[in-house]
Amino acid sequence: MMTEVLRIDPARIDAAAIAAAGARLRAGALVAFPTETVYGVGANALDAAAVARIFAAKQRALNDPIIVHLAALPQLETVATDIPALAYTLAERFWPGPLTLILQRHPRVPANVSSGLLTLAVRMPAHPVAQALLTAAEVPVAAPSANLFTRPSATAGGHVLADLDGRIDLLIDGGPASIGLESTVLDLTGAVPTLLRPGGLPVETLQALLPQVQVRPGYLASTQAAAAPGMLLKHYSPRAQLLLFDGTDWQAVTAHMQAEARRLLAAGRRVGIMASTEQAPLLGAPGLLVQTLGGQADLAAVGSRLFDLMRQLDQAGVEVILVAAPPAAGLGLAIRDRLYRAAAGRVIEVGDGERC
Ligand code: TXA
Ligand code: MG
Repeated sequence: MMTEVLRIDPARIDAAAIAAAGARLRAGALVAFPTETVYGVGANALDAAAVARIFAAKQRALNDPIIVHLAALPQLETVATDIPALAYTLAERFWPGPLTLILQRHPRVPANVSSGLLTLAVRMPAHPVAQALLTAAEVPVAAPSANLFTRPSATAGGHVLADLDGRIDLLIDGGPASIGLESTVLDLTGAVPTLLRPGGLPVETLQALLPQVQVRPGYLASTQAAAAPGMLLKHYSPRAQLLLFDGTDWQAVTAHMQAEARRLLAAGRRVGIMASTEQAPLLGAPGLLVQTLGGQADLAAVGSRLFDLMRQLDQAGVEVILVAAPPAAGLGLAIRDRLYRAAAGRVIEVGDGERC
């Protein structure tokens, strides 16, 4: 299959080109598109055969359910049933935006969208290109992140092509995704609203409206995929081995990273570091590749560069990547989660490190 690339300037959307892409999507094509979180690879959510092709294109595990994307709120009752009032309250406050809600799946949505579950994940993205495409498609669109299964999510068109060129029909390249971390997933089907995945909408923002929100116990360090489909521990991984350093004293953490980098280099390994702006000048050794994520307190910058830098270091042929975990507040919770998974459990505690 040839993957066509359509470049769209989000500030000047080519309506005719988007209308054609929407028609293709509706007719069963796989179309990757930008959202404010990460790129998604979409299929008509009401077409079971098209949805099955997403799993094949991504080499995605069949037990990992997919999020359905909507253009407008009235579509919600066409894909979900028994919608609680709370869902509308949250939608009014946070949609369009990086929040995914788990509701009861409407029987007209094919079961394979949800990997056979009776529930459905749904969100309304804020990116203007995503909104234009979803409006043009005139159908709800099932779209997982546009990366090969277990690889870092795609935050730019180039990442999508690196993983899915020849495996999807069309890529709409609308430039880099601004948040760079996937949406926050909130389950509304149980007795208490429960956070299943920390993401682009900080949990504190949700808790301001919903103090009763629960973070699924043990989630961040969980090795159990069954309780949470798709939440496999090894996920979002670069090819290189990632070593995660965790501690409250960033200078002590930096010194440990420097020592470990020198030890690995002496052993002949190719080593990269994803550093904060504050750490970068303190790190260095011949052959060491240091990439800067952003200021320690600028979690939005760190989040937006995380997956891109993992991919860049892979491309540079690095075998080991060292990185420090930010504190678990705000977007830091989602960043820690992605790093913890990318590290597949290789966490080095420095001093009295916070628990992941
Ligand atoms: O920001 C995002 O959410 C991006 C963009 C493209 O919208 N999408 C995304 O999709 O990250 P994906 O497939 O990579 O992650 C979807 C997550 C998975 O962890 C999956 O387990 C969870 O949502 N999920 C989907 N349906 C679910 C359901 N019915 N119950 C529980 N979890 C569900
Ligand atoms: Mg994903």
